[in-house]
Amino acid sequence: MAILLAFLLCIIFIILDNRRKITDFITYYSKARKAFSKIPGPPSIPLFGSAHLFKWNVMKFSYQVEEWGRKYLLADPEKSHGMWHLWAGPVPVIVCGTHESIRVILESNSNITKPHHYQILEKWLGTGLVIRTNNDWHARRKLLTPAFHFNILRRYIPIFGEQTQILLNIFDEHADTNEIVDVFPLIKRCGLDIIAETAMGTRLGSQTHHNSQYIDAVYRLSQIAWDHIRFPWLWLKPIWNISGYANEFNSKCEIAQNFTRKVIEQRREALEEEGLLDGEVTEEQVKTKKLALLDLLLMMQKANALSDEELRAEVDTFMFEGSDTNASAIGFTLWFLGQHPEYQEKVHEEIDEIFGSDNRHPTEEDICRMVYIEKCYKEALRMTPPVPIIARQLSHDTPIGDVVLPEGMTVIVSPVSASRDARYWERPEEFYPNHFDSDKQAARDSYSFIPFSGGPRNCIGQKFAVLEAKSMLAQIFRRFRIESIDIWPANRPLPEIILKPSNGFKVQLYRR
Ligand code: HEM
Repeated sequence: MAILLAFLLCIIFIILDNRRKITDFITYYSKARKAFSKIPGPPSIPLFGSAHLFKWNVMKFSYQVEEWGRKYLLADPEKSHGMWHLWAGPVPVIVCGTHESIRVILESNSNITKPHHYQILEKWLGTGLVIRTNNDWHARRKLLTPAFHFNILRRYIPIFGEQTQILLNIFDEHADTNEIVDVFPLIKRCGLDIIAETAMGTRLGSQTHHNSQYIDAVYRLSQIAWDHIRFPWLWLKPIWNISGYANEFNSKCEIAQNFTRKVIEQRREALEEEGLLDGEVTEEQVKTKKLALLDLLLMMQKANALSDEELRAEVDTFMFEGSDTNASAIGFTLWFLGQHPEYQEKVHEEIDEIFGSDNRHPTEEDICRMVYIEKCYKEALRMTPPVPIIARQLSHDTPIGDVVLPEGMTVIVSPVSASRDARYWERPEEFYPNHFDSDKQAARDSYSFIPFSGGPRNCIGQKFAVLEAKSMLAQIFRRFRIESIDIWPANRPLPEIILKPSNGFKVQLYRR
């Protein structure tokens, strides 16, 4: 009896001590329930939400989520205000899938906080741009934006050309042999070498020798982070620790970060020797040097009181955001074109018109003329956006139509849903580059195509990505005709942190 009494007293004490949190929790849940009553979503039961319905196989789960999106959202986008709801266990989540709801979330200057799922990346990417919030984020974004100005990016075009040349030589070994080759790992390594040289001024050489500790660390970190995001039990510290993930994540972080730190030191010494770190650097000096993004940050370091660790975090963020994303986009473009000889022929025509028989690497002017290649790249981004989930945690109550989403709620923005909205896309389920004819683009709501997100927190590397992709695709298709083995909708894209094909990009290469 005494034990029971002590137990009850303990419970009462805990409740009284946390009454503020408990009232907030109850208010939050009643607001969430009220909002959910106006938005469609799959059936749920208390505490488990819809978890009992979830398919455990990743592939089947992706079909299930797609089916829910079609059923609850695209069937009647106006009635649903472009949203559907999901109880992920006891956690309420809203999915925004059409421009009506997406605009409200992404255009906001205040709803810029990332949900706690991103915290796993903090150990690796520290205070890098992708993780920052509030004023911290605004100031850093302002500081970094000039480094992505077109006048800076145009200097990387020769690097795109040189690294793609190495890729072509590797492709050549497989050409005209009827061999089926998965080009995804080859494109990924090329993307990694490009971002390493442009962001850090370092030649990684991952295309020619694969066994680098750093490259392995970067790949494993992304994989482990994705497992952490999708398996909620890993959020519990004891399970995370005994699963072995914690140890591996920490040691790979150390390898990746130490590598970047060493590169920073080497670049600093090189710039110091050239006198580029003392005092004012002239416009002329900047213009004539092939400076990496890191060099620009080093040159701004003093004036902006950036610590070495902050600098490291930004460079690691560029490495994380800037390699696999575009490798996925370029791979999907190539694979779609390999299924559509009629579109590939138009790509060949455009390239022949630009280059004739000249073998030069693409120049800035050449890239500007690649109108049809850009349409194909954008169409691949529409069909298979490399970043399949954009998430926010609401910083305040947010009205969308007559629904108020409460502060604290996790909102997932879905670029895939937005780009399958039949109100805006003539052939939503098909690879059809004409979707990006200029008149069609002008007639469309800009938030119905958001592979690079939108609003103030959009992708800072968007122009970089488009330049790199057009340059690489032109070089590849100038040399080869490509036939894909799997045909859409086979080779289901699987949502990880970055969208990946379930069966690689298997193709046959023929020299033109
Ligand atoms: C096809 C290629 C790419 C795609 C589809 C892509 C997509 C995105 C998306 C959707 C976001 C917003 C993420 C969010 O809000 O959660 C983002 C942010 C970001 N991206 Fe990209 N990205 C690409 C290439 C790049 C490249 C090449 C770089 C750097 C060189 C880069 C650097 C960044 C950074 C630093 C952010 C954070 C921006 C911020 O929070 O202010 N991205 N990207």
